[in-house]
Amino acid sequence: MPRVLITDNLSAAGLNCLKSAGLELDVRSGLKPLEVREALKTADGIIIRSGTTLTEELLKDQSRLKVIVRAGVGVDNIDLAAATREGIVVMNTPAGNTTSTAEHTIAMLLALSRNIAPAAASMKSGKWDRKSFTGTQLAGKTLAVVGLGRIGLSVAKRAIGLEMKVVGYDPFLSAEKAAEQGIEVVRNVDDLIGRCDFLTVHTPLTDETRGLINAERMARMRKGARIINCARGGIVDEGDLATAIESGHIAGAAMDVFIQEPPGDNRLVKLPQVLTTPHLGASTDEAQELVALEAAEIISGFLLRNEVRHAVNMAPLSAAEMADMKAYLDIGRRLGLLLAQQNKAGGVRSAHLLYRGEAATKNTRLITSSFAAGLLETALAEHVNIVNAELLAKERGIRITESSSSEVGDFSTMIRATIETDAGELTAAGTIFGKQFLRLVRLGPFGLDAYLDGHLLIYRHRDVPGLIGFIGTVLGKHRVNIAHMALGREHNEPGGDAVAVLNLDNEPSAEALAEVRSHPEVTGVELVKLPRAGDPLPWLVGG
Ligand code: NAD
Ligand code: MLT
Repeated sequence: MPRVLITDNLSAAGLNCLKSAGLELDVRSGLKPLEVREALKTADGIIIRSGTTLTEELLKDQSRLKVIVRAGVGVDNIDLAAATREGIVVMNTPAGNTTSTAEHTIAMLLALSRNIAPAAASMKSGKWDRKSFTGTQLAGKTLAVVGLGRIGLSVAKRAIGLEMKVVGYDPFLSAEKAAEQGIEVVRNVDDLIGRCDFLTVHTPLTDETRGLINAERMARMRKGARIINCARGGIVDEGDLATAIESGHIAGAAMDVFIQEPPGDNRLVKLPQVLTTPHLGASTDEAQELVALEAAEIISGFLLRNEVRHAVNMAPLSAAEMADMKAYLDIGRRLGLLLAQQNKAGGVRSAHLLYRGEAATKNTRLITSSFAAGLLETALAEHVNIVNAELLAKERGIRITESSSSEVGDFSTMIRATIETDAGELTAAGTIFGKQFLRLVRLGPFGLDAYLDGHLLIYRHRDVPGLIGFIGTVLGKHRVNIAHMALGREHNEPGGDAVAVLNLDNEPSAEALAEVRSHPEVTGVELVKLPRAGDPLPWLVGG
């Protein structure tokens, strides 16, 4: 039974959903980083919120861990590169807390404009002060929204409802789509910076967005403008914001998120013009229930049915698609394993996969990843799978490309893999007969029809009479049974170069191979070991 570690608070509904799916739970909040590392050793998956940070150090060599699910949107508390490198799928629950976070942003906007928090604090201290807290009306004011994704758009819609004018910037939103929502979009942040009374950010925290709203941009904002950050700490530079407020240029700010959480002794938090909440954007009963249920569903789908939903480092795949893809992933991996073992001479520089016929209609990126996993898995000490194989190849300077053609050649479906090595090119092509019979139909220049499983004895030779009898006698003498034999001739005529692929029931000894090699017409002998027919893919649940 797959085991799931949960290190942050998850709603009871989410926990029940995990239990009834049949997963074993290990619920432990408040763990220190080294304790998380220990706990991960016995977990197949982990669900976290923003309270757990999964660093490279914690993720390294976690051979059992297959999936990380972030119950929420932001995955900036997960070292994505390290997770990908270790072959761990990372998923999030992107939509569950959109509405709650947009509502929190609007609450901040209203509270900021009407000084709600300081006025309430003043009354609690026994005062009745109607002069100090005069506010500013929102209707007719301009709100700048930086980042018009799920939350940004939802905030814009609500602000328009408050009769604000909304101007926005998002590199991935077209002016037409924005106009449909009543939003004017500009070409970059600088185009909106001097035009707003309020500015709110709703981007992820990336190298590009870190410090996006900084001293220089704040200086160009209207005097008396206000800033809101309910996205991620650091998008608005905290030190620069404190200085701009102290100088009186920026009138106030509302912050739900901080570079460091909790923020500790932070000058910005202490300023009376700054309204703060402790990362509460998604903290509603409704949002927590939605993200917990979604997290439970996507982790069960992955660990029990190989479903990939909302992955941030892998293409999505439903359980039905995965079942449909299994034979293709298998043949991709086998072609990779075959070429890796055939390559005796040199470093692999690049690989190219050509998909023809039905294969071209499948999720070829994933088949290419499976090929890359096969190509590398016998060579690398680390755990290689479809999540990390292409990255590991890239790190080794191997360029992997693919092309597709809907044209059907000799086979209704075919995958041809070519690797370019320091010593030249190697090519192999495979097809699938029926739903699951995997066949090798090309090896270098030779067309043939061999099984793509078990022990393959491949020998190159000149196509002369008596050779097949000789090989059969040698193998028989060494008690090796031949299950299937395929012959490929370069020009399909006797006397020329040919290759034979013998599928053997057991592995021939070194002496047997030496005897095969000793025949004067044999020019090369290799033994390639592939998984047996029907063997599970090592990185799929139930193969
Ligand atoms: P989203 O992916 O739907 O939207 C993000 C948008 O930002 C995208 O449209 C993207 O194109 C845009 N973007 C990226 N880089 C940009 C740039 N340099 N300039 C302008 N736009 C850029 O994400 P979302 O669900 O809307 O979440 C937005 C943010 O809110 C995330 O940082 C998320 O972590 C955070 N969040 C916070 C809370 C909270 O509790 N405070 C809750 C949920 C989400
Ligand atoms: C998120 O990214 O979803 C938010 O930060 C909410 C959270 O996890 O608390």
